[in-house]
This record gives sequence, structure tokens and C-alpha cells, in this order.
Amino acid sequence: MASVTSLTDLVNQQLTSALSATQPDADPLLRRSDRADFQANGILALAKKAKANPRELATQVVGGIATGDDLIKDVEVSGPGFLNITLADRAITENLAARLADGDRLGVPLKADAGITVVDYAQPNVAKEMHVGHLRSAVIGDALRGMLDFTGERTIGRHHIGDWGTQFGMLIQYLFEHPGELAPAEDVDGEQAMSNLNRVYKASRAVFDADEEFKERARKRVVALQSGDKETLELWQQFVDESKVYFNSVFDKLDMEIRDEEIVGESAYNDGMPETARLLEETGVAVRSEGALVVFFDEIRGKDDQPVPLIVQKADGGFGYAASDLTAIRNRVQDLDATTLLYVVDVRQSLHFKMVFETARRAGWLGDDVTAHNMAYGTVLGADGKPFKTRAGETVRLEDLLDEAVQRAAEVVREKARDLTEDEIQERATQVGIGAVKYADLSTSPNRDYKFDLDQMVSLNGDTSVYLQYAYARIQSILRKAGEVRPAAHPELGLHEAERALGLHLDAFGDTVFEAAAEYAPHRLAAYLYQLASLFTTFYDKCPVIKPQPPQDVAENRLFLCDLTARTLHRGMALLGIRTPERL
Ligand code: ARG
Repeated sequence: MASVTSLTDLVNQQLTSALSATQPDADPLLRRSDRADFQANGILALAKKAKANPRELATQVVGGIATGDDLIKDVEVSGPGFLNITLADRAITENLAARLADGDRLGVPLKADAGITVVDYAQPNVAKEMHVGHLRSAVIGDALRGMLDFTGERTIGRHHIGDWGTQFGMLIQYLFEHPGELAPAEDVDGEQAMSNLNRVYKASRAVFDADEEFKERARKRVVALQSGDKETLELWQQFVDESKVYFNSVFDKLDMEIRDEEIVGESAYNDGMPETARLLEETGVAVRSEGALVVFFDEIRGKDDQPVPLIVQKADGGFGYAASDLTAIRNRVQDLDATTLLYVVDVRQSLHFKMVFETARRAGWLGDDVTAHNMAYGTVLGADGKPFKTRAGETVRLEDLLDEAVQRAAEVVREKARDLTEDEIQERATQVGIGAVKYADLSTSPNRDYKFDLDQMVSLNGDTSVYLQYAYARIQSILRKAGEVRPAAHPELGLHEAERALGLHLDAFGDTVFEAAAEYAPHRLAAYLYQLASLFTTFYDKCPVIKPQPPQDVAENRLFLCDLTARTLHRGMALLGIRTPERL
């Protein structure tokens, strides 16, 4: 594996060394520009700081830059202290050739200061249907992991499923009184599992609401569960197992790998919760208030300016959501050695995490060397701009939604398919439909709401995954049609404007992934890929590859650009969790 320094970094190095004569430690600011390949506009600020004349400083820097065929072909001062920098065609092609030669990583280096990020995502609740919010968490979390892993960060997944709490008393008691109501998990598929769970839930709810004595038995069952009664735990486990069959079927449909050992739900922190409470109380971080153990925050106030506390332990001794999250932090920092804790959780839980993080800081569980961040995502809206619901106002069943996406995708694929069999159409439809759902989510900034609009998602025009998948498949078809002519880089050739634009963008892949990963911003990678496909379209329009036939070396070099574009699209989409079929 040979990593490749990006052209941006190479130019930056030159600028820095040209500047260092007058401005040691200067950090020039470089950006892509329409007027030249790059524009350095940091000179202005540097001059200001050094109380120098910007134009003079810029001229001095220009004098210190070597121009030629190696990297920078031309540099000129423009305006008061801007530098316009044009790269040599050779430098572009050579850098890209090194990327292609590197294979899978496309020359992108691994970061030197990699840490361990624990990503808390895809966390549905036992015995409950998943909703679109769970879909978002799964899709965003999976993409963030893909990007982080690619930079060399080590990620550990934690699916903090809701598998504990008083609500299980009712369910377990019902199952205890009606054994056999829940078919064994190994005998059911996802859909059956959920329909069983729904049935048991409804039946137990009915008894619970109608029968006071059952209510009392259910309450006792909670106590038995919390004290670890064996029989009670076995029944509880049945609900967990049945639910996992259901979750896994949804994650399967989403084409997402969920590892069993990373499903570590609330219940896993059960044993540690009393100690969490004890430590908080001993250190005075938490105080007793009306019997409950709570943490107060000066700045967090609710109605009537009353402080809103975080409840660690209820007055009846029970532990809840906050206690499990606090205990999880201790585990993730102390046992998993996490340097970053990332939570991909609905924005509506932001306050909860704010209080949990602050509490953990006060307790010393989150030191200065650990970052905790809630990647708080927005709501999925229906066409009417309101939170996504069925016409009857119920939450949408995720499987239905995914099935519908695949169905719509099948229509699109079928329309374009010339030589595909029905099986192939179905397979492509799955990749296109699921990709469409993921991409629609990932291409908007996670903290914003977005509209779930299947028509738009599977559209061939515009910023959709289908558009990107077609671009990829089209390149594969070009490579097939080229027959004998194979991709090969020819650094000695001059480049067309459209080739340069495509090439410079291709070279920026690694930088983009690093930035997107650092900012937890999959939409930045999505935007990059969309622009890549657009630049490719322009290139293919302006620069014939096969017909009309260009000279052999030009054809080879263009095919090489096609090839690298395809590989970059493929890799980028894979990081987002989206497939790129070879034919569409
Ligand atoms: N199960 C929760 C829900 O459905 C999400 C869990 C988020 N993660 C956490 N560590 N609290 O709302």
C-alpha cells in the first residue's frame, strides 16, 4: 500500500515553504477556484497579521515558488494578495496514476493519530416496532462508521437497544400465564416475530388495563426481573430473542451488517448501575431529592424557571434510562478505551445527552481526553411536511416502506433494462431501492429534517443514488465496450479542461472523506460523489473515449480517467453503505 499526497497538500507544502522565508509557521489557505485550479487567499490575512503589504508579500511568495512541469505550472498574483495557482497537467495525471496503482484505498493515507470511537447507533426497542427514526440512526451510524474506519480510526459499534424496564413486567407476566403464546425465535421469520410480539403486547395490555389483580402480579414481576429471578429472566430472554429476529430482518433488508456481539442493550449495564449511583452520591455529583437520586444543572431549567434534574435513581429504587447511559459511559471509556463517544440519536434526546455527558464529566468518567458527541438527527417528514405517518396516523412499518422503495426501483430498472433477466432486475431493484432510501437520508445534513419522498428518491435526474449508480454502471459499460483498448495513464499528454476538472476532483477524494469523517458529515461525501458524477458527465460529453475514436494514447488516458472515476464512486458509495451494481 502506497499512500499518495493530495495535490492540495503538495501545493500547500510549496506555499508554506515559499512563505517560511518571511512568515515562519504560516498556514496558507488554499481552496479550489473557478479562475484557476487553486486560489490561495490566506496571504491577505497573513499580511495583515505581519503588518505587511499584501501585494508585496504575495509577489515575494510567487518568487519563491518553483514553476514547471512537476507540480505548479503557473502562479500569479491577483487582486490584493490572492494567488491563482495552475497545476501542470503532468502532475495531475501522475498523482491519479499513483492512486489507481494503490488499489482499494486509492492512495488515501491512514491517519496518524487514530483513536477508538464507540458509535452508539441502530438502537431499536425490544417488543416494539422500529420506526423511521431507528432507520435514520442505523443509516447514519453505519455511514459514519464506514468513513471513520476508512480514515484509520477504530470504531466499535454499540446497539443500545431498549431491552429493560418496568414495561417488561406486564409482558413477562402475561407470557408466564399463557405459555406458548410466543413461538420460539428459531421457528419464525422477522415478520412473524413482530406480529407475535404485537399480538402478545395487545393481549397483555388488555388484561393489564382490565384486571387489577393482574396489574399487581405484573408489578411483582418487575421486582422479580430486577432481582434476577431465573424463570423471569428466561421469559424476558424470549422477548429479546424474538425481537432480535425481527430487528435482524429489517437490518438485512437495509443491507446492513449488525454484529451480535455489538448488540449490547440497556440490560447489559444492569449490574453496574448501583455502583454508578453510589459513586455519584458519594462524590456529591448527585443528591437525594424527595427520595430520588438526581443531578441538577444551573443552566437547565424548565417551566417556571424550575431546574430540571437528571434522575439517576427513582424514589422506589428503580433505575432508568439515564443510569444505563451513565454506566455505559464508564464501560466504554474504562473498558473499551474509547477516545470518542458518538451517539447517533434523535435530536429529541439532546437534552438527555447534554445532562448525561455533563454528569459524567463532573464524576470524572469523561476526562479531557475523551470527546462525547450526540449526532442529533432530525425528523423524517411525510409529503405534508409533518412527521412521517401512515394515512391513518400510525407509525409507518419499516419493512413496508423498504419494500415499496424496492418496488419503485424495480419500475425504474425495468424501464431501462435491455438485456437483464427478471432475477437480475429484482437484484438490481433491491440495490437501487435500498440505496435510494439511504442516500436520501445521507445527502442532507443529519441535523435537518427531510421529506420522505419515494418518487424523488428513485428519480434518475438530480441528486440521487440512482443517478450515481447509473454513472458507475455506465462507466463499466464503457470499459467493456473499449475492448482491446485498456486504461493507461499518459502523463505526457495535455489535458482538456473537462479532464482537468474531473482529475482535480478525483484527487480530492481522500481529503473529502477525512473532512466529512471529522465533522460527522456524510452529506459532504454524498455531495462530493454527486459532483464527481456530474463532472464525469461533462467530461464524457466533451472528450470522446471510444466514438469518434481518438488517438490510442488519448483513448487509453481517458479510459484511465473513467476507471479511476468508477473506483472512486464505488469506494465512496460503499463507505456510505450503498451498492454500485456493475450493470443497470
Ligand atoms: N432505544 C432508544 C430509542 O428508541 C435509543 C437509544 C439511544 N442510545 C442511548 N445510548 N441512549 O429511543
